[in-house]
Amino acid sequence: MMRLDKFLSNNGFVTRTECKKAAKSGLIKVNGIVIKDPSVKIDECKDVVEFNNSIVEYNEFMYLMLNKPKGYISSTDDPHKKTVLDLLPDEYRTFGLFPCGRLDIDTTGLLILTNNGKLAHQLLSPKHHVYKTYYFECSIKLTTVMIDHLQTGVDIGEKSLTKPSIVKPDETMLSGTISITEGKFHQIKRMFEQVGNEIVELKRIKFADIELDNTLKEGEWRQLSAQEVEILTSFE
Ligand code: URA
Repeated sequence: MMRLDKFLSNNGFVTRTECKKAAKSGLIKVNGIVIKDPSVKIDECKDVVEFNNSIVEYNEFMYLMLNKPKGYISSTDDPHKKTVLDLLPDEYRTFGLFPCGRLDIDTTGLLILTNNGKLAHQLLSPKHHVYKTYYFECSIKLTTVMIDHLQTGVDIGEKSLTKPSIVKPDETMLSGTISITEGKFHQIKRMFEQVGNEIVELKRIKFADIELDNTLKEGEWRQLSAQEVEILTSFE
């Protein structure tokens, strides 16, 4: 059982405030009956909820895509720094969302937030080899030796070399994309350092086959589409 307004906002359908207004206007029905009080409890598995005459499916989990700006940490709670959760509306605090993997404070781009802990764990497990692609800018021109080294494996002081990566430099050799399957602390920065270069800009543009929505400005977010959720759940 759960509150009707939580059911609707949990689905990313409306915010709780919008829900209140919609209920007042008679736009919400449960089992065909107009409900004006959005705080009533419903059975999310059995009751049929309609919003403006469309049936709302119940989603157990929530999945968001955020375009992370600089200056925010990929954590749920920090007394001193702004976290990525600060970019979401207040009511999203109650959903138990957390970032699926971490981006450094100065890294921007695609961050997936979910409350599906089991799936997040699987997506981050090295067993699943989920590719994450980043746009990078570096301080000196990439050489073929550097690229080979980055692609085959670099000793960044971990137990083993980094797993094979894919590097696609731009014509300038000062930027490009790199795809990695692991997610060690500062991994790409450390890989570049180890080959005698330096990352000056890093932005994640793809997670598995999910691309950062280029209509999202930094700090903006949206629900993942059903197709994008399917990409994630294919790793279950
Ligand atoms: N590698 C890094 O060095 N930083 C990130 O934020 C992500 C990957």
